[in-house]
Amino acid sequence: MKFIFIITLVTASAFISVHAQVKPDMTAGDLTAAQSNAKKLYERITGTKLPADSPLISQMANLIQQGNSLGAAKLATQDPNFYNITVKLMALPLSTREESLKSPLTDFVAGFIGVTRDDRDARELLTGNFYYRGSGANVRSDIVADILNSNNHYDDLERTRADLSTNLVRVEGQVLSTSATTTVANPDPAGVLTSRGFMGAHALMGTNRRLVEYTFREFMCVPLNMWADTGASDLRIGRDIDRFPSGDHTKFLTSCKGCHTVQDGFRGAFAKWDFSGTGGLKNSAVHTRGDGGGFTIAADTRGVVNKMNKNNTVFPSGYVMIDSSFVNNAIRPANAALFGWRGNALSGTGVKDFGTVVSNSSRFSQCMAKRVFETVCRKILDETKSRDALIKWGTEFEASGYKLKSLFESMSVKPECLN
Ligand code: HEC
Repeated sequence: MKFIFIITLVTASAFISVHAQVKPDMTAGDLTAAQSNAKKLYERITGTKLPADSPLISQMANLIQQGNSLGAAKLATQDPNFYNITVKLMALPLSTREESLKSPLTDFVAGFIGVTRDDRDARELLTGNFYYRGSGANVRSDIVADILNSNNHYDDLERTRADLSTNLVRVEGQVLSTSATTTVANPDPAGVLTSRGFMGAHALMGTNRRLVEYTFREFMCVPLNMWADTGASDLRIGRDIDRFPSGDHTKFLTSCKGCHTVQDGFRGAFAKWDFSGTGGLKNSAVHTRGDGGGFTIAADTRGVVNKMNKNNTVFPSGYVMIDSSFVNNAIRPANAALFGWRGNALSGTGVKDFGTVVSNSSRFSQCMAKRVFETVCRKILDETKSRDALIKWGTEFEASGYKLKSLFESMSVKPECLN
């Protein structure tokens, strides 16, 4: 049943039909209008329908009639389907390289749902030391075999249609597996950035650059070409990046350099992380050095994983990574205005520092507002037209204590959402 609703939700026609019938003015009015608005509001927040004469819709309609649309929205977010459908739909595309709604339930997605449900500060998604797991008779739950080294646990929660609004439990303290039977504390926990889901998608092979690229795509709502800066410092660009691609230095200066200044600046945050072999997610502070198979990590004596310094003969005088320090090169005027950095945002060490820099920016808050808008209002936000509104919504989100549930509620009754 749940599955059918998801399919319905993602079809364009459903988006339009639900949207077209919502009355712009949700305040006072006659009971039938209030009932119909309550029904639409409920549908948008939960992704499911209720008959107009059901008790909950009547209750919501009464509140709307009294001019309390927000109160009505708050009733709707108490419905399990707010989590099982709506919040889940928002998190799924952020969880994989394909950014698909058909992505599986993972620890990444569960983290998003849990943080929303438990009214936690959303910045914890990029900085916290926790994860969410479930339970059930037919749910495989071995911490190493089913949670750290495979997605069995979350696959089973999905297969058994566990009600995630009640089934998910927050666990304090992320762990990594060092053998088939042992786990150790994660030395650099950073919310869903250090989840199996996110790391499995972006730390698999490659050069850990994708982790930076996708953190910005998903949590800042900016693709790399939008924050590329050819005028920024190239001191952190690795030795594997050709400064004379096809013999042409100008091509490096006008193209390659733009993405790699900002991306390679942050990349050091992930210097000690790799995803490979049976062990899955590994960090050189806790895993034994080896070839990367099993529970070993392919790293140098300083703990920097080999892939960070690979292909070092392409441009031997490029940056050699020696630790997990990073620098923020996205600080020249255009990027400074786009991101609105706050606090100590110029440099740091490790993933938690990186997540702190990202989540304290005003752009993070605006991105969450944009994602909630697009999920609950079911239309794309035109950023050029709605720039002022987005800035305001980001500030409101921060004033609420970065609560995603409140953001869903307040967004769902805004005129921009309904019109
Ligand atoms: C639009 C942004 C962008 C531009 C422009 C760009 N790159 Fe990259 N580059 C990336 C991203 C993102 C990755 C990580 C890709 C991955 O791991 O899937 C990457 C990875 C790389 C890698 C590592 C590949 C590997 O896995 O070993 C090399 C080498 C590279 N780029 C060279 C270049 C060169 C040379 C140019 C210019 C001709 C260039 N890049 C232009 C974004 C860019």
